[in-house]
Amino acid sequence: MSRFHKPVLLESTIDLLQIKPGKKYIDATLGGGGHTERILSLGGVVLGIDVDQDAIDFASQHITNKNLVLVKGNFSNLEKIAHLNGFEKVSGVLFDLGVSSHQIDTPKRGFSFLKNGPLDMRMDQDSQVTAEYLVNVLGKGELYELFNRLGQESHASAISRTIISARRVKAIQTTNELLGVVAKAYGYKEDLSDFDKNKIGQKVFQALRIAVNSELANLEKALPQALRLLENKGRIAVISFHSLEDKIVKNIFKEFEKQNLGNAVTEKPIEPEKEEMRQNSRSKSAKLRVFAKN
Ligand SMILES: C[S@@+](CC[C@H](N)C(=O)[O-])C[C@H]1O[C@@H](n2cnc3c(N)ncnc32)[C@H](O)[C@@H]1O
Repeated sequence: MSRFHKPVLLESTIDLLQIKPGKKYIDATLGGGGHTERILSLGGVVLGIDVDQDAIDFASQHITNKNLVLVKGNFSNLEKIAHLNGFEKVSGVLFDLGVSSHQIDTPKRGFSFLKNGPLDMRMDQDSQVTAEYLVNVLGKGELYELFNRLGQESHASAISRTIISARRVKAIQTTNELLGVVAKAYGYKEDLSDFDKNKIGQKVFQALRIAVNSELANLEKALPQALRLLENKGRIAVISFHSLEDKIVKNIFKEFEKQNLGNAVTEKPIEPEKEEMRQNSRSKSAKLRVFAKN
């Protein structure tokens, strides 16, 4: 599994989901199937959903278990997908948000500022909107808003301006071209080290990825659906990777509590131990929150 994706916070997530043999679970973000495989090994029956066909293909080739149902779909339609597949009442729903290592590490998917590729960033290859489209079509104010709000990027204004002048000469079509434009906005002239690329690329690429995949809106739509799908005492576990996502999870769980629908099991989010962060740098920003229905 580890070549496709190494699961993050695996033990804590599985412990808090309290997996019971014969019970139904939804893994709304299948990825490389690391969490799903553990649920299956504990006797759970799993509906594994991913919006990326690569994840579905990988799991169907690598996990052979009659207790696994695989569906390519977006968790924004969670209830519909669950009902169509006989998962009306479930004991747990897992969201392990963001991108898989496979997506980041595959240059043609366009997620990485460290690897050159088309400026794509779609998790769902059937979707119409790419990062290239947004970068070349949005107006200066819209680009500013995107980098400022979704990337919390301090150079949002200079970057939007530089994008507008660069694309007047030629459309920005690759990850390297975009990084070059961002570098110019930051005032970098020489060849960039990976350290520099990280420093200037992370927020801009994150903002575009969130926008291309409507990540925040999908999460807001999915959590109430997950709660409705739960049987009594069922649990929702969410692993998030940046503050915008974590804030949404925290606030929606608070709202559920206010409506007396259950309680957050994790008062503060659970973060990986130092050892996990050392072994898997992608786990560094992970935060796990769990909610239990009454
Ligand atoms: C961090 S990975 C999950 C890793 C998985 N838990 C494992 O252990 O291998 C996140 C996955 O969620 C998928 N994903 C992200 N947003 C989604 C959405 N709205 N609907 C369905 N899948 C989504 C991505 O395509 C990616 O494969």
